[in-house]
Amino acid sequence: MFITFEGLDFCGKSTQVKLLVEYLKKKNEKVKVFREPGGTNISEKIRSILLDKNNSEMIFETELLLFAASRSQLVNEKIIPLLAEGYYIISDRFHDSSIAYQGYGRGIDLEFVITLQNFVIKSAVPDITFFIDIPIEEVLLRKSKIKHIELDRIEISERLFYEKVREGYLILSKKEKRFIKIDGTKSIDEVYQKIIKEIEIYETKKENLV
Ligand code: TYD
Repeated sequence: MFITFEGLDFCGKSTQVKLLVEYLKKKNEKVKVFREPGGTNISEKIRSILLDKNNSEMIFETELLLFAASRSQLVNEKIIPLLAEGYYIISDRFHDSSIAYQGYGRGIDLEFVITLQNFVIKSAVPDITFFIDIPIEEVLLRKSKIKHIELDRIEISERLFYEKVREGYLILSKKEKRFIKIDGTKSIDEVYQKIIKEIEIYETKKENLV
């Protein structure tokens, strides 16, 4: 089973990824967890280029292609072989991040971004995608707490960017059946319980089909 987590920065995905991995390991399931961009030697090198603050001259198209290159390596080197071996694969971000951030957020031609993702992920379509949704105000608040910056110093462009990314995720969650939208302003435990319940529902449905 392939499960991905999506959402705006600071939505709490990484905490939920950890909790889900612990839950599956307790059930003695074989689990591998990835964080995008990254997950292979080549992908981690691409990650450091993407997240390097000195690379401020990077244009949006380069960014899109580097995320795609990192993902392509991860899909072929790790995800597809591990799924074939019966592993649960959990990924903190996957191709929907590129659709939301580069497509909706940066405004790169959406059809092209989607076509590129399909080319990259091949058969590795997630079974479930948890979209942990938080309002922009919450993103900015959490960011100011963690990074100790004042809210009024956050540029208006950043707020607009997050609004477009969130809008993208909301559209995806209406369009894609695999998407499960969860209110990320709820407590860690409430979000976790909802995730476990949804996985159980999915597995029961699958068992009934066999
Ligand atoms: P990271 O520090 O891993 O953030 P997070 O913990 O929120 O996932 O940085 C990943 C950043 O890259 C994050 O701001 C989202 C962005 N991103 C894209 O713009 N496109 C993508 O395809 C992916 C995977 C990430």
